[in-house]
Amino acid sequence: MVKSTGPKKINVAVFISGTGSNFKNLVIHSFKRNSKFRIELVISNNPKAKGLDYANKFKVKKRIIHYSNIGYAEKKIIFELQKNKIDLICLAGFMKILSRNFIKKYSGKILNIHPSLLPKYKGLQTHERAISNKEKYSGCTVHFVSPKLDSGKIILQKKVKILKNDTVRKLKKRVLKQEHLLYPKALKKVLSNL
Ligand code: GRF
Repeated sequence: MVKSTGPKKINVAVFISGTGSNFKNLVIHSFKRNSKFRIELVISNNPKAKGLDYANKFKVKKRIIHYSNIGYAEKKIIFELQKNKIDLICLAGFMKILSRNFIKKYSGKILNIHPSLLPKYKGLQTHERAISNKEKYSGCTVHFVSPKLDSGKIILQKKVKILKNDTVRKLKKRVLKQEHLLYPKALKKVLSNL
C-alpha cells in the first residue's frame, strides 16, 4: 500500500513559562483534520512550568532553556529551532524578552498573544489596569513580535466586555477563553499568507 504523505505541514514551536493553556489549545487544534501546522517543539525557561505536563500528555518534544545568560540561552534555542526545522514560533505566556538580534533573525516568524486590546496596556497586569481605569472593554491581541515590546503588527484582536463589579480573576478567565479561540484563528491567517 502506498502511504500518502499529504501536504507539508508548518512546524511550530511554542514558548511558555507557566500554565500553558494556550499551548495545550494549539496542540489540540493541530490535531484537527485540516490543520496546516504541527506543534513540533515546546520551549520553556521554567522547568516547573505546568504547561510542560501537556508536552508529556500530547507527546510534544520539550526543551528547558536556563536563562542565567541570555546570549547562551538564545544560542541553545536557535540550535533547537534549527535542529527541529521550525518554521514559526508562537509565544504563549513566555516571560522572557527576546533579544533584538533573535527577533531580527526570525522577523515575521514570531507571534505573541497578549491579554489586552493593544496598543492599550502593553506589559504586565493588563486586567488590573483596565479595570482600575474603568475601561468598558478589555480583550486580547495576537501580533507579530518586533523589537519594541508588545508593539508589532496586529494580526487579530477580540474585545471582551468589562462587567460591573468585575474582578481581575473573572475578567482574566473570560479573556483567556477568547484567547483560545483567537490564537488558532490568527495562526491560520498567518499560514494562509505564507
Ligand atoms: C495569557 O493570558 C497570554 O495572553 C499571556 O500570558 C498568558 C498565558 O496563559 N501572554 P497560558 O500559560 O497560555 O495559560
